[in-house]
Amino acid sequence: MKKKIIELKGLEKHYPVFGGVLKRQVNSVKALDGIDLDIYRGECLGVVGESGCGKTTTGKAIINLHAPTGGEAIYYPEDGDPMDLAKMSNRQMKNAGIRSRLQMVFQDPTTSLNPRMLIKHIIAEPIKEQEKLSARELEKKIVSILEMVGLSRMHLMRYPHEFSGGQRQRIAVARAIAASPEFIVLDEPTSALDVSVQAQILNLLDKLRKELNLTYLFVTHHLLVVKYISTRIAVMYLGKCIETCPTDELFSNPLHPYTHALLSGIPNPEVAAEPNRIVLEGDVPSPLNPPSGCRFHTRCPFCIDVCSREEPVLLDVGNDHKVACHRQDVVKELVKEKFGIEGYF
Ligand SMILES: Nc1ncnc2c1ncn2[C@@H]1O[C@H](COP(=O)(O)OP(=O)(O)O)[C@@H](O)[C@H]1O
Ligand SMILES: [Mg+2]
Repeated sequence: MKKKIIELKGLEKHYPVFGGVLKRQVNSVKALDGIDLDIYRGECLGVVGESGCGKTTTGKAIINLHAPTGGEAIYYPEDGDPMDLAKMSNRQMKNAGIRSRLQMVFQDPTTSLNPRMLIKHIIAEPIKEQEKLSARELEKKIVSILEMVGLSRMHLMRYPHEFSGGQRQRIAVARAIAASPEFIVLDEPTSALDVSVQAQILNLLDKLRKELNLTYLFVTHHLLVVKYISTRIAVMYLGKCIETCPTDELFSNPLHPYTHALLSGIPNPEVAAEPNRIVLEGDVPSPLNPPSGCRFHTRCPFCIDVCSREEPVLLDVGNDHKVACHRQDVVKELVKEKFGIEGYF
């Protein structure tokens, strides 16, 4: 049986927008506008979608780096009662002993690591918050964590700038696991790295998840990266989750027109000819004023009347597959008919 670790129910993050001479709030950016999503223990859930759709905000809202403005983020501890992280302050999370169980690794380790701190101190900080160790024990633990991420004792007395991008990301991962977390948000952790280094970091993350029983929320706009590392995928569009299912299922049986469009954009290196693509018309609408009904309807090639009027619910269609589309039962045929696409790489 799969056990939930986190459940998002209508989670919301609206950023206020101020204007006019009085600098009053005139509108809000609906960065997250009611996202429903289950995250299971031990999985790597990939979160994909175009830039600005709310992937980073989702990660930050869950772990309370940016407090949500509505909805629930239920955390199910291994022991004890569920708690709604969306209603807890950082202090309350700390007092409940769960602050350190939820960690985040950012895209750019150059800005996320303190340039004036030795590696030794960067890793020591989260350990010291957990347990009181003698200086010797502490150093031993730091070294063992460095070794887990492919670094060693000789790196202890160095500063972040003395490392390459890939090594710096290893340090950021080491700092996250030093807190003994259960859940880590990985926000585009390989996007700033050279392609050759990306694979090494992905393999490291995959290994650590299995060895340490971690759960990941892996945010990326890169579909082949999630295909490689994720066990399940959530597709986001304008602050909502519009489709979620196991990774294989997403690539073999996508249901949402937007997911089809994303998949059709992946180049297939095994085929010389350009694949048929679903090119979406227009730009992503502004999260200041998202469209009525289905928020994808303004760009959807299969939009009908109901789509602009009624918002589709995220429907469970079996096989651990959920989709929010009024026409999900005919999308596959429509894609074949209109674009000549029968499957994806
Ligand atoms: N601190 C902020 N203040 C105002 N708007 C923000 C802030 N952070 C993000 N946004 C807006 O929220 C939306 C979602 O952003 P983000 O979560 O960073 O998207 P993604 O990670 O998918 O690219 C975007 O429209 C972005 O401009
Ligand atoms: Mg982002």
